Amino acid sequence: MLKKHLQYQKTKISDQAQSGAEELLFNSRSLAPILTDYSGPCFVYDLDLVQERFLALKNALPHVSVHYALKANPSPEILKRLKSLGCRIDAVSGGEIQRAFECGFEPRDILFSGVAKTQKEIEFAVESQIHQINVESLSELKRIADICSKMKKKISVALRLNPDVEIQTHKYIATGLLENKFGLELAILPDLLNVLKQSPWVVLSGVSLHLGSQMLEFSGLREGIRKTRACFDELRRQFPTCQRFDFGGGIGILYEEVNPARELQILADYALVIQQELADFVQEGIEIQAEPGRWLVAHAGILVCQVQYIKETAQKTFVITDSGMNHLIRPSLYEAYHWITPWVLRDSKTQIVDVVGPICESSDFFSRSRPLSLVKENDFLVIADCGAYGASMSSDYNLQARAKEIFLAQAMD
Ligand code: LLP
Repeated sequence: MLKKHLQYQKTKISDQAQSGAEELLFNSRSLAPILTDYSGPCFVYDLDLVQERFLALKNALPHVSVHYALKANPSPEILKRLKSLGCRIDAVSGGEIQRAFECGFEPRDILFSGVAKTQKEIEFAVESQIHQINVESLSELKRIADICSKMKKKISVALRLNPDVEIQTHKYIATGLLENKFGLELAILPDLLNVLKQSPWVVLSGVSLHLGSQMLEFSGLREGIRKTRACFDELRRQFPTCQRFDFGGGIGILYEEVNPARELQILADYALVIQQELADFVQEGIEIQAEPGRWLVAHAGILVCQVQYIKETAQKTFVITDSGMNHLIRPSLYEAYHWITPWVLRDSKTQIVDVVGPICESSDFFSRSRPLSLVKENDFLVIADCGAYGASMSSDYNLQARAKEIFLAQAMD
């Protein structure tokens, strides 16, 4: 049976209804017009769903300034839609800041995070007078101070603290432990404050934290916020300009389980932690910032590819498609689960298969030893929840062309 998904339904294909074939709908939209012109793997996005997600998040966190972590998906269409809703940006490179400007964001909308900001990127950020640089090391703070004094321009910085807190997620995307390269150890705070006190051009505007990605429960976030808050309260006493608290991104989505009610509960749990830990900031006029990426866009994108060959070996059945780790690296990199289904369901029977791609690596797979409804060569497959960290992490490895990106929206129907 077709797994019912939050954004997926099935419907009879009218001219094949006799044979019982069923077509997958993407958030109530037929993919048929796209697939008649198929010329290679493509990401298909639903911009209205991005909007729905943003509004749901904003509704749950009404006092929070939402800065979309555009690394999740930097498509201009998505950025422009989010901009029109009042969303802001968390950027991690000069390229991302530039992209945000091209999509209509103002300097005051932009936070700049990341551990390796170059001289040029900092000069660009200072010259553009963005809202805030989130500082990740003592050397970086010194470099910012140096650049600002040469340019005779002020900039606001937040100290990204590393509270040494563990969260439940894949170890490659956890960032809040001291073994990770991210953030500032609390032990070096005195050194940071010395630099700040001697640098009139650098304004301490707040603190930030980001513990990692794909969190589905928030006890770690609560602990991280508490540790960071203690430090923030102390900094506010010494620096009256210190008025912003950024609790990062990281709210996860359900990839395996199809359970809209549970996903809403996750959002509610998240909002409750923020509310309980930071409510007094609202009264005090502290600017509370968040940097979500995945939650806003993951469900809003699918990857469509085509079965090239079905290869039966003594041990396995491989469904070989024209797309692989070059377009969606998450399964190879984190053994991440993405739901996969044929676009047209011919049969209710399933078969245990590996869905693999064209790349010359054994790690090039979308799924391993999982049931898939029976497919034939040339059938289309739909891979779900690829709106975040799909296209943005893709490459042209093996000189395979990048996947096209197609955007669907109400106005276009
Ligand atoms: N803020 C900072 C400083 C970050 O490094 C990130 C993500 C975010 C915000 C947004 O996190 P989100 O809300 O999307 O969890 N490629 C991985 C995820 C890496 C996340 C990197 N940083 C994946 O595909 O699961």
